[in-house]
Amino acid sequence: RAADPCVLVIFGAAGDLTKRLLMPAIYNLAQVKLLAQNFAIIGVAHTQLGQDDFRSKLRQEIHEFATVSVDDGLWRTLEQRLYYLAGEFQDAKTYQKLQQLLVQVDQDCGTGGNYLFYLATGANFFCDIATQLGAAKLTQEDNGHWRRVIVEKPFGHDLDSARALNKTLGSVLTERQIYRIDHYLGKETVQNILVFRFGNGLFEPIWNRNNIDCVQITVAETVGVESRGNFYEKTGAVRDMVQNHLFQLLAMMAMEPPTSFEADAVRDEKSKLLRSIQPLDAQSVIRGQYGEGNLNNTQVVAYRCEPRVAQDSTTETFAALKLTIDNWRWADVPFYLRTGKRLPKRVTEIAIQFKQVPSLLFHQTPLEQLTPNLLVIRIQPNEGIWLQFGAKIPGPTIRMGAVEMDFCYADYFGSTTSTGYETLLYDCMIGDATLFQRADNVELGWQVVNPILEHWQTVPPPNFPNYTAGMWGPQAADDLLSRDGRQWRTPDR
Ligand code: BG6
Repeated sequence: RAADPCVLVIFGAAGDLTKRLLMPAIYNLAQVKLLAQNFAIIGVAHTQLGQDDFRSKLRQEIHEFATVSVDDGLWRTLEQRLYYLAGEFQDAKTYQKLQQLLVQVDQDCGTGGNYLFYLATGANFFCDIATQLGAAKLTQEDNGHWRRVIVEKPFGHDLDSARALNKTLGSVLTERQIYRIDHYLGKETVQNILVFRFGNGLFEPIWNRNNIDCVQITVAETVGVESRGNFYEKTGAVRDMVQNHLFQLLAMMAMEPPTSFEADAVRDEKSKLLRSIQPLDAQSVIRGQYGEGNLNNTQVVAYRCEPRVAQDSTTETFAALKLTIDNWRWADVPFYLRTGKRLPKRVTEIAIQFKQVPSLLFHQTPLEQLTPNLLVIRIQPNEGIWLQFGAKIPGPTIRMGAVEMDFCYADYFGSTTSTGYETLLYDCMIGDATLFQRADNVELGWQVVNPILEHWQTVPPPNFPNYTAGMWGPQAADDLLSRDGRQWRTPDR
């Protein structure tokens, strides 16, 4: 069904997110008729632009960033519903003007008084915008009209700032109105983790400590810090990726079955899981920073030589950690997580390694040489699921070898044109918060990493840069697993 009629108000509409992801996603939703007929967008930003300039800017950008070829007729219909308001986010006058414009847009477009405010600005504006929206009474729901706010990441800088942001949002909105986004949850393959686990009788019964030896979650990127040195210097890999994206993958993989697919049922289970993570000690978390190196035949500079990065920066561009989850399902099963920039390939995957058989009948293959059963959920790219198991190598003696079954999304469903934001925007417009983080989910994530971040602040890394661009992180990350008699899987497909 098409989403509810509404006005999407984008704060930060002149920025990168709007042109690269939000507008292409809106266009894709329009194309599959999932937007209401009565839909409009108001862009708000400090940039002084007229309405026509805004429309022509977005017209040019959609041709550059759309994930499908743009139909001019469809774009024109959307374009007539684009409005622009120039103003400072901290200035109450901006919100008075916004109120007036909303009344006008409701009249012009029949949007009916439902407003979705998207905070796509720098995180330093989130509190101000929320407070001003509250003061202008724009967050108050009345006569059946809904008011919702999407908050982009980063959601806080640490536990205290996340709590403070939750408090400010909570002073003008009810929890039901707040949609904290994590774009990983918009990815089809991430949503599929739940379908795979809870829609197949085969896997859930073996999804526990009795059968699983360890789990490895890798989110590797080849890109460096690009033009975001300013932001990244204050952030680092743990804040940028672990506390949010990796913990979401972990929660989807490891949480208990929720009682339903309702938002709170799913989010309750995520919180339970995050609460069961044992406190991290400094030896279980490795940090790294890339030095210069060669990646895909291109020479790249060290992190410390990137624009707007300090020459003696101690910011980590790589993190690896070992977690244990203290509950009945996962006691004693190590979860190894790693993420980094300038790694050899762009790949996100969850690899589940199963326990070996208790004893081996076929003595030609020693038990320690037997390749364990492995299930790999490939989140991106080359989305799919891969299962490795043992089979008899043809011949007169019994010898075992590893063989594989491979499911590829693209083979079954064709290639996707989704940006990942379609589902999230649509869900928000129909009031489904299942794929959004609740206040406690975010705070629990911070609670896990906060002690490490605090510890790192007091003990600067002695050996940065400690990995060459194009390698799988520092030696210490390998040592973290070899101490347990294991090694990282090299994502090979
Ligand atoms: C963002 C981080 O949240 O996720 C970036 O800020 C990172 O540093 C990006 O590159 C990765 O997202 P994806 O969808 O490309 O895996």
